[in-house]
Amino acid sequence: MKINGTPYRSVWLNEKDGWSVHIFDQTRLPFSLDILRLTTPQAVAHAICTMQVRGAPLIGAVAAYGLALALREDASDTSLENQASMLAATRPTAINLRWAIERMLTHLRPTAPAQRVAAAYEEAGRICDEDAAQNEAIGHHGLALIREIAKTKKAGSPINLLTHCNAGWIATVDWGTALAPIYMAHDEGLNVHVWVDETRPRNQGAALTAWELGSHGVPHTVIVDNAGGHLMQHGQVDMVIVGTDRVTRTGDVANKIGTYLKALAAHDNAIPFWVALPSTTIDWTVADGVQEIPIEERAASEVTHVSGKTADGTVTRVQITPDGSTAANPAFDVTPARLVTGLITERGTCPATEQGLRGLFPET
Ligand code: MRU
Repeated sequence: MKINGTPYRSVWLNEKDGWSVHIFDQTRLPFSLDILRLTTPQAVAHAICTMQVRGAPLIGAVAAYGLALALREDASDTSLENQASMLAATRPTAINLRWAIERMLTHLRPTAPAQRVAAAYEEAGRICDEDAAQNEAIGHHGLALIREIAKTKKAGSPINLLTHCNAGWIATVDWGTALAPIYMAHDEGLNVHVWVDETRPRNQGAALTAWELGSHGVPHTVIVDNAGGHLMQHGQVDMVIVGTDRVTRTGDVANKIGTYLKALAAHDNAIPFWVALPSTTIDWTVADGVQEIPIEERAASEVTHVSGKTADGTVTRVQITPDGSTAANPAFDVTPARLVTGLITERGTCPATEQGLRGLFPET
């Protein structure tokens, strides 16, 4: 996608600069667009843990390059296994991270150590290209759904979409999952408007989704996380569309904390609730998302403190809770399949069921 007219992906290599890996520092957005140069697997792990880089598909892609950086230092079997384990342990919920590392290991284990660095860069590059292509395909399939809603709207009234967290191009290699159909709908002239949940505690909606949509010229309004139900009751939401960090083979959906409450409100108001995902987000080994998907617990300080820009332009962090109050910070929740209208994948849409997913992916 483009920033000020220049096309970017969310991760890229600089071959003239020692084949280093480049990302945007997402902890600095929306106030500053800083590029980070990563040269070691430890720097990659740090970037993932601190969420300088985030979003399920993107952390998988960046971790794959992290393994290439690791092999530059030591291409032995022991190094390969140890560094893969180190990178896989950075975040627990998004299955894409483990999927990407497993794919790299499958490719690199039979490769002779002397050829491993080149092979690792090539395979990581393929993972990136495939992610971008899958998300573009998701965009086309989701666009068809938005077109159907457009047919039901009175001339001049907007198609109101609601999204949670950030499932845009900076959460993936390119295009995004939930936002890809929205970009395409806007680009073909449909009158889309997006309600952007702020997504406490880290505010990925307010900071990242709003920045992405604004950069692309998509009309949007940031709302507090608890406003969605009210808007749905008053006919101001036509469709909810979110991304996901892991989908079980039965269609349960893990996504940013608060997604479940949006699905409940959508169900109560008969509003379609769609989930967009590349197939790399499906965990075929898990049947019960609530019981089996590990939910990341992040630092309490993300709840007790917020960052923002002061009137003089300084970005600062302030405490919002009383001294001594404890805080809990589960970062994801699971929306049961029964609340999901359908899944949008690179191969098309399907019901959030095992039959639906296996119908699209019969080879699994
Ligand atoms: O903790 P984050 O910011 O990595 O969580 C990201 C999300 O929950 C996204 O909705 C999900 O990864 C889908 S990304 C296309």
